[in-house]
Amino acid sequence: MPFLAPTFCIEHKFTFQITERKANLKKAHMATFAQWVHVSAAVVGVGGMGFMLFVLFPSVGVLNDEQRDLLMKFVLGRFRWVTWSVIFLLLASGLYNVRLVWFVPWGPYWKFLSIKIVLALVVFAIVLLLTIPLGILRKFRERRQLWLSVAFALAMVVILISAYLRRGG
Ligand code: HEM
Repeated sequence: MPFLAPTFCIEHKFTFQITERKANLKKAHMATFAQWVHVSAAVVGVGGMGFMLFVLFPSVGVLNDEQRDLLMKFVLGRFRWVTWSVIFLLLASGLYNVRLVWFVPWGPYWKFLSIKIVLALVVFAIVLLLTIPLGILRKFRERRQLWLSVAFALAMVVILISAYLRRGG
């Protein structure tokens, strides 16, 4: 009986290692999925803002007032659902990403990540104020191009900080 004990231990250790490897692989798949969601949502959201600013707004000048108002009403109605979905996905995947870097000790990484999150929240706030269909927000919507430019510029800073966080200084 005494010589059976080591065999049992080795088998037990082996099973434990396989279970641990499977768990790590699952974690890596989840992290990849969250990163994919995060980057895709950022591409769609910031790309959509860029399209509005650099392509759509300068082009609607060729339409008369009535056509322009109709087109903008329709475009903004659709843009609303895209941006709200993007905000939800960025927040959910962003919080998951934060959980993954929770082990990093307090220092420059967290300072930059905090700035990034605050700026991202400002971008979300501007976009929500522009897209929530409430009468009291009309004044804000009248300066749509200005506020969208501010949101776009801040989003570019958010992307710059994200690249810095990933690649390091
Ligand atoms: C305007 C909104 C946002 C944009 C455009 C954005 C964009 C990005 C991009 C491009 C990356 C780099 C991904 C990569 O290197 O593969 C990233 C990473 C990350 N994002 Fe965001 N993000 C936004 C909002 C958020 C929010 C709200 C949170 C947290 C609640 C967040 C947390 C993170 C974290 C923790 C990382 C990983 C950083 C690292 O690689 O160490 N993001 N983000």
